[in-house]
Amino acid sequence: MNNDKHPADPAQVQHIVDTSLAFWKSKVLLVAVELGVFTLLSDRTATLGELQQSLALHPRGSADYFDSLVALGLLQREGSGEQARYANTPAAAALLDRTSPHYMGGVLEMTNQRVYPFWGSLAEALRTGRPQNETKLSGESWYQALYADRARLSQFLSAMAGYQISNFKILVQTFDFGAYGSFCDVGGATGALAMEVARRHPGTRCISFDLPAVEQIAAERIAAAGLNGQVTVASGDFLKDELPQAGVIAMGNILHNWSVDTRRMLIGKAFRALPPGGAFLAIEHLVDDDRRHNLAAMLMSINMLIETSEGSESTTSEFDRWCREAGFRHTEVKPISGGTSVGIAYKE
Ligand SMILES: C[S@@+](CC[C@H](N)C(=O)[O-])C[C@H]1O[C@@H](n2cnc3c(N)ncnc32)[C@H](O)[C@@H]1O
Repeated sequence: MNNDKHPADPAQVQHIVDTSLAFWKSKVLLVAVELGVFTLLSDRTATLGELQQSLALHPRGSADYFDSLVALGLLQREGSGEQARYANTPAAAALLDRTSPHYMGGVLEMTNQRVYPFWGSLAEALRTGRPQNETKLSGESWYQALYADRARLSQFLSAMAGYQISNFKILVQTFDFGAYGSFCDVGGATGALAMEVARRHPGTRCISFDLPAVEQIAAERIAAAGLNGQVTVASGDFLKDELPQAGVIAMGNILHNWSVDTRRMLIGKAFRALPPGGAFLAIEHLVDDDRRHNLAAMLMSINMLIETSEGSESTTSEFDRWCREAGFRHTEVKPISGGTSVGIAYKE
């Protein structure tokens, strides 16, 4: 046997190396948000020395750290050496500066504080099938504590919206909500999707339905957007109550939190709340039936293993089967972005 010949081509070796160290990149970004780098550079440029001083950083590592952010396309730098000045890129200024109205760092803060350490117990999750979040550490559901603290709840809901907002913006351009007259987003959180639909289709009556603890937060956001007349907030518990009636019913990142039986129950409730000709939309990471292409969906499904006791992502054909069982005539799945799709089920 010739031991000199390497068994894999260099691209495969590099793929393994890159995958094994992928967390380096994510941690550089998450820590930049934690330190407030992009907020510091909100309305100014800064030299390396100024960044070190303002953020209380040791000189060792700082140049590599900020230049990594430059190489990642999140900072820009004019010049080099001590005189070089760092600034936000336009995308970082819009999305990662806490003072920007489009700040999406909430979701990164949550990822850094919670998701990153919990994924450290992935092997245990795989061995036990049990969640690895606060439930494991304190015995108390994180959600119970969250829903009791309005400020944290508001921050969490904003973080969730940060994940989904670009999907919502794409969805309202691709699905004709205006053809159905009314819309209800079930588990609508801050009302982000209902507001996007309302902006795009001013004639559509929109409802954002969520738990009572969320009502005031959503109402404030909707009022601040000047959409009071068009978007209303409805409170209830989708596990116990029937859903508000509307021509289109959506569930964004809802089904994947629950057991298969609960997912089927929720799809059945959506069917009953729709008129003939209505449509049900599930906006989440639907896994391709072959289970080999949508990596983002399978990773999200593993995340549901870590975060929930029974949740996972569904496949396209599971979604279709459960919808037909509920009475829907047919379904289709359209990719939105980043592994998220919309599963659409049409009622006769
Ligand atoms: C993962 S978030 C998804 C938020 C939003 N739909 C999105 O796509 O970003 C789940 C939402 O479901 C709501 N929720 C959880 N349990 C609920 C229940 N039993 N009844 C109504 N809403 C519930 C939560 O308050 C939260 O806003």
